[in-house]
Amino acid sequence: MYNAKAYSAASETSPLAATTIARRDPTEHDVQIEIMFCGICHSDLHQVRNEWSGMLPTVYPVVPGHEIVGRVTAVGSGVTKFKTGDLAAVGCLVDSDRTCDDCKAGMEQFCPNPVFTYNFPDPHLGGVTYGGYSESIVVDERFVLRVPSNLNLAGVAPLLCAGITTYSPMRHWGVTKGKKVGIVGLGGLGHMGVKIAHALGAHVVVFTTSPNKKEDALRLGADEVVISKNANEMEKHATSFDFILDAVSAEHDINAYLNLLARDGNLTLVGAPEKPLAVSAFGLIFGRRSLSGSPIGGLVETQEMLDFCSEHQITADVEVIPIQKVNEAYERLLKSDVKYRFSIDMASLRDE
Ligand SMILES: NC(=O)c1ccc[n+]([C@@H]2O[C@H](COP(=O)([O-])OP(=O)(O)OC[C@H]3O[C@@H](n4cnc5c(N)ncnc54)[C@H](OP(=O)(O)O)[C@@H]3O)[C@@H](O)[C@H]2O)c1
Ligand SMILES: [Zn+2]
Ligand SMILES: [Zn+2]
Repeated sequence: MYNAKAYSAASETSPLAATTIARRDPTEHDVQIEIMFCGICHSDLHQVRNEWSGMLPTVYPVVPGHEIVGRVTAVGSGVTKFKTGDLAAVGCLVDSDRTCDDCKAGMEQFCPNPVFTYNFPDPHLGGVTYGGYSESIVVDERFVLRVPSNLNLAGVAPLLCAGITTYSPMRHWGVTKGKKVGIVGLGGLGHMGVKIAHALGAHVVVFTTSPNKKEDALRLGADEVVISKNANEMEKHATSFDFILDAVSAEHDINAYLNLLARDGNLTLVGAPEKPLAVSAFGLIFGRRSLSGSPIGGLVETQEMLDFCSEHQITADVEVIPIQKVNEAYERLLKSDVKYRFSIDMASLRDE
C-alpha cells in the first residue's frame, strides 16, 4: 500500500478538501496510473451530495471522479497491454465478476457484480473505491483503456463517461445518416451527444433551456436548436424524431419529448435526476413509442468510442481548472454555467 494525495468530501454537506488515501501496490495484472486530468461529471455532484441515496447511498469520505486520463507509472508482471510511460484512461468501472453472461458478451456495464470507480466496495483494500480526484490510481489492465495519441488530453478525460454514455445508446438505437436525433440538455453529456450524433451523420436538434447556448450548439454540430420553454418551437417538431437522448440532470417534463417521437421512436434517458419522472401512458401508446435508459458502456465499446473520437477528432470542450476550484465548479455546474465540461488539471494537487 502507498499513500496518494486526493480530494474528498466528509459528508453530504461538506465541501471537497485535500486528503490522503491508501492505494494498493500494483498486483500481477494491475496498471498504476499517474492521473493528469479528471473530468467533473454531474454524477460526481449527485453522489458527493448523496442525491442518489435510494439507489446508491454515498459512503463517506467520498473521492469522486470517473473520467480519468494519465500516464502509466508501473505495471504488474502479468500486464501485456501497457508499459511504463504509456497514456492510459479509466472510466466508471474498475472491475466486474468477468464470468456472467453480460461480462462474457463484453457488456460489463450490465454485470450484476460490478466495481465502480468510486463509492463502491473495494475488493482489494476493503472500504470503498476512490476515484480520480487523486494523484494516482491502480486498476486491472482489463479495465484500462488505450488513449489515442492525436487528441488533447484535458478534452479526452470526459470521453470516459460523457462520451461513452452518449455513444453507446446512439449505436444501440441505430443513429446513422438520415435519422433525426434530438439531444435534450446541453451540458457535459449533451454536448458530447451532439458531437457524436453529428459525426454519425444524423440530423441533430438540440433542446436547451438556455437561450445563450444556441450559437454554441450550432458550432458543436447541431442542425437546429429549440429553446424548450417555447411551446410553439416544440410543436413544430411534433411526431418527427427517430431518437431522442435526454441528458438532463434535474426534474423536467419528459412527456413533452415523448410527443416529439415519430412512430416507433425511442427516448433514452441517460440523465439521472434525483426524483422519479412522471410518464403519460398516452405519450407511449400513440405512436408505439418506447422509453428506455442506458448506463455508460462496456470496455470494448468504450475503446471503440475512443477510436471513433480519434478518427473524427472529437474531444470535449473543456474548462481546465485546478483542483482547488472544484467546489466553485460544482456550484457553477448546478447553474448550467460550464462550457461544457470541467476538466481538473491534477498537477495542481502537488500544491497541497
Ligand atoms: N446514464 C449514465 O450512465 C450516466 C452517466 C453520466 C452521467 N449521467 C447523468 O446524466 C445527467 C447529466 O450529466 P452531465 O454531467 O451532463 O450534467 P450537466 O453538465 O450539469 O448537464 C445537465 C444539463 O441539463 C440541463 N438542465 C439542468 N437543469 C435543468 C432543469 N431543471 N430543467 C431542464 N434542463 C435542465 C442543462 O442544459 P441546458 O442548459 O441546455 O438546458 C444542463 O446543462 C446527470 O444526472 C448525471 O448524473 C448518467
Ligand atoms: Zn459520469
Ligand atoms: Zn459480470
